[in-house]
Amino acid sequence: MKEKVRELSNGVKIPVVGFGTYKLENDNDEVCNMVKEAIKAGYRSIDTASFYDNEEGVGKGITQSGINREELFITTKVWPDDDGYENTMKAFEKSLSKLNLDYIDLYLVHWPTEKIKDTWRALEDLYRQKKVRAIGVCNCTIEQLESIIEFANINPMVNQVELHPNRSEKELIKVCKRHNIVVEAWSPIMRGQLMSNEIIKELAKKYNKSEAQIILRWHLQNNVIAIPKTSSPSRIKENLDIFDFNISKEDMKKIDSLNTGERMKPQKYENLYKVI
Ligand SMILES: NC(=O)c1ccc[n+]([C@@H]2O[C@H](COP(=O)([O-])OP(=O)(O)OC[C@H]3O[C@@H](n4cnc5c(N)ncnc54)[C@H](OP(=O)(O)O)[C@@H]3O)[C@@H](O)[C@H]2O)c1
Repeated sequence: MKEKVRELSNGVKIPVVGFGTYKLENDNDEVCNMVKEAIKAGYRSIDTASFYDNEEGVGKGITQSGINREELFITTKVWPDDDGYENTMKAFEKSLSKLNLDYIDLYLVHWPTEKIKDTWRALEDLYRQKKVRAIGVCNCTIEQLESIIEFANINPMVNQVELHPNRSEKELIKVCKRHNIVVEAWSPIMRGQLMSNEIIKELAKKYNKSEAQIILRWHLQNNVIAIPKTSSPSRIKENLDIFDFNISKEDMKKIDSLNTGERMKPQKYENLYKVI
């Protein structure tokens, strides 16, 4: 696969690998330095959220990177405490100011709540006002996603969900494809927990790649966008170096066989939006 970007339903291009920043902190310029490293290594997409409490550092890294703003794809998210129309509008302005930007590329609902209709209306307005180039959701089940599509004037363009070989979400991917929604994987390498898996290890050996690269390539070949996080400059490079090999159909199936459907750990925000 040569393309390193994909198109969202509105034609906006999104890089197929982005840099995740959860747990990278403002303190000691950690997140700022990692964002600069990532941009230097060739990443153009950075994923943050108000909840990560690191938007200032991400913004600083972007400014110090020296790269033109238009070349970057910046994602941030509205947290459940800020749901509803007015609160979302305020939360957006706060994120924008912390990031020191004048627009966001992708604004996501972090977890849908019972106020999702109002929250979504706010995202639609931000999109119409051209303050965001694309809008989407996170953590939506098929049921939640289809219910949002029913009331939405503008459909979500992205659904960012927990997705890795242990939770491969094949059905959700099919439904998203049908609605022209791009799927993004959070915890794409399962926070490192799959590195000692025998199948992954065997494939790493076979393709002469690292275990992380095997998993990230599996995402790429499944048309899923991955946003791995790391605090190591060498892993930043490693996680992007996945464009020079192909996993065979047979080996893709071996990785698919690891699916149990389970989450890494229970998520307390999972059921805030109950579809009736
Ligand atoms: N929308 C949501 O609800 C949601 C939820 C969670 C996460 N996210 C987003 O998704 C991003 C990625 O998810 P994540 O941070 O949970 O997990 P992840 O990217 O799957 O894994 C990160 C962990 O893997 C390690 N790691 C990274 N590259 C590695 C490599 N090449 N070899 C071995 N270990 C490696 C990292 O350690 P080191 O740092 O020590 O390298 C870190 O402990 C987040 O940062 C965030 O932006 C979104």
